[in-house]
Parts: sequence; structure tokens; C-alpha cells
Amino acid sequence: MKEEIYILAIESSCDETAASVVKNGRVVLSNVISSQIALHTLYGGVVPEIASRKHIEKINQVIESALEEAHMELEQMTAIAVTYGPGLVGALLVGVAEAKAIAYAAKKPLIGIHHIEGHISANYIEHPDLAPPFVCLVVSGGHTHLVIVRDYGEFEIVGRTRDDAAGEAFDKVARAVGLGYPGGPKIDKAAREGDPEAIWFPRGKVEGSPYDFSFSGLKSCVLNHINHAKMMGEEICVPDLVASFQASVVESLVSRTVMAAKGYGYTKVAIAGGVASNTALRSRMKAVCEKEGLSLYHPSPIFCTDNAAMIGVAGYHEYKKGVRSGWDLNAVPHLKLGER
Ligand code: KG4
Ligand code: ZN
Repeated sequence: MKEEIYILAIESSCDETAASVVKNGRVVLSNVISSQIALHTLYGGVVPEIASRKHIEKINQVIESALEEAHMELEQMTAIAVTYGPGLVGALLVGVAEAKAIAYAAKKPLIGIHHIEGHISANYIEHPDLAPPFVCLVVSGGHTHLVIVRDYGEFEIVGRTRDDAAGEAFDKVARAVGLGYPGGPKIDKAAREGDPEAIWFPRGKVEGSPYDFSFSGLKSCVLNHINHAKMMGEEICVPDLVASFQASVVESLVSRTVMAAKGYGYTKVAIAGGVASNTALRSRMKAVCEKEGLSLYHPSPIFCTDNAAMIGVAGYHEYKKGVRSGWDLNAVPHLKLGER
């Protein structure tokens, strides 16, 4: 009989304390997330020191709940996987120290996971038919990468943002129009009431690098528009403004992803990260992929934003490849994708 592989996964790279039990790399037996969003909303963004302190408070309860919900004991786990970068160093350290302590005490293998590999792997959870190679657009609060997934855990970055990440642009524009933090979901909702063609904003381009992204010019245009309206005493129609901003971001993301799939000769496209839960991005990407004969994969929103199930899926593939971390595993805030 085939041996079942159970991964206990831990994620604490930013403002969610999360733990999950994943069976055989596809079946999520539990997915517990303790979000600090309400706390950071008071400050308009994530405060690193507060994030670390909250992780310390919550992490044991979150892990206990993940095992309970899965109806499993720590002894039954095959290995412990943990995000060790990139992210906020103090936040990462909480998860890494916890995972090391558990793995050491329970005599289980320890596997350090790259956060972005986790985001990409979230696509395997609900799509049993999805296997590499494929093109993946990773769009989160800290990253905007166009990645070719050659095999499980094997990546080539073919495009990246030159300035702001897509999620960061959403968060900054939301703050400027008073929608609050986190901006992405708020803009997504407000934009549904607006006209995406009301204001024309530029689609950021990087000369000579067709797969790279740039959002800082767009952000400046939006801020100029707001300041100009204020100076003239004109009222801003927030839904129109954010719908027009969102249309520009979505167009940049969709056009480059589809161009990369066609340019490199792949027929499967996936999206990942917090911004991948954006409804306008999902529907535009779906329409363009259908038109171009590409198959589109995306996780449910709960697996797009930070969670530990995605770390458990990545942990399974790294475990199968024989990857093991030593007791000297450390947090690496600027860890590069594909590096160990
Ligand atoms: O992947 P994630 O949870 O954390 C990081 O690894 O950064 O992504 C968080 C980012 C935030 O910038 C948030 O505003 C954005 O994802 N986001 C969205 C949506 N939901 C979350 N952006 C646009 N539309 C959404 N529905
Ligand atoms: Zn993330």
C-alpha cells in the first residue's frame, strides 16, 4: 500500500498566522488562519513589530487547531514545512523557530519553503489535473513576478515589477482615496459600482523588457488626478477613479501573462497571490485566455491570500524531492525564488 504523506505547514511571513495539514500534496485537511488585519488597519498598513508580537501570541493555538481540525496528532505527521522567506524578518522568525522546535521535539524532518513557491503551489489544491510546465503570474502585496514553472519547485522568472508590486499599488491608491487597508479588496468592491473607462490612465511599460511591469507611474497619475481635483474644488467619484485604476493594472497584468505564454509556447496559465483574488483580473484573464486558446487555473480566494495550505503543498513536493532543512534554518527576508 502506498504510504500517505502528511505535512504540517506553518506560515507567518506577514500579517497572517497560519497552520495547515495537507495530505499527499493535494488534500487540505485543515487550513487555520488568524488574521491581524483589523489590528493593522488602525495604522493604515502592517506594523512589523506588532505583527511579530501577534504571531508569538497566536502560533501555538493556530497549530493546535490545525491538527484538531484534521483529526490528527503531531506524531502522525510525515514532516514539518515552514515559510522561511521572503517576508518580514521578525514575523518569519516566529514561524521558523516554532517549526524547528516542533520538528526537533517530534523527530520529524524540517523543510523550509519559499513563500512564492507556496503561492504558486496553491493552484494544485483545487486542480488535480494541473501539473508543470505552465506560466504563472504571481501578484501579491510584495511581489509581481511572471514565472515559468518548469517542474515542481523549478522556476524561471521571466518578468518582474521594476518598482511597486501590484498589491502595493492597490494599497497605496486605496489609502489616497480614503478606502483604508488592505486596499485590494476595498478597491475590488468599490470598482464594481464604477466605470472603468471614466478616466484613462496609462498602462505602465518598461522599454526593452516586454515582460516587466511598472506601476509607480500609474500610481503618480492617480495621485495627480486626486490633487488636481482637490485644487479645483471638484468632487472625486471614487468608484470611477478606482475602476479606471484597476483597469490599467489588470490590462498590464493580463497582456504580459498571455504574451509570455504564447512567446514561450505554453498552453497553461495560472495566477497566484493576494491580487489573484481580484474579480476584474480573474474575469479579464478568463476572457483573454479563452480567446487565445489557453487554459486558465486559479485558486479560490482563500488560497490566494496568505495561508499555510499552500506551504503544505509546496512542502510535499520538496519532501518528495528529498529536500530537508538543517537545524540552522534561519529567516531570509529577501530570499530569491529557486534559491536555497
Ligand atoms: O499574497 P498576500 O496575501 O500577501 C503577500 O504575500 O503580500 O497579498 C496581499 C495583497 C495586498 O496588497 C492586498 O491589497 C491584495 O493582496 N489583495 C487584493 C485583493 N485581495 C487582496 N488586490 C486586489 N483585489 C483583491 N480582491
Ligand atoms: Zn503572500
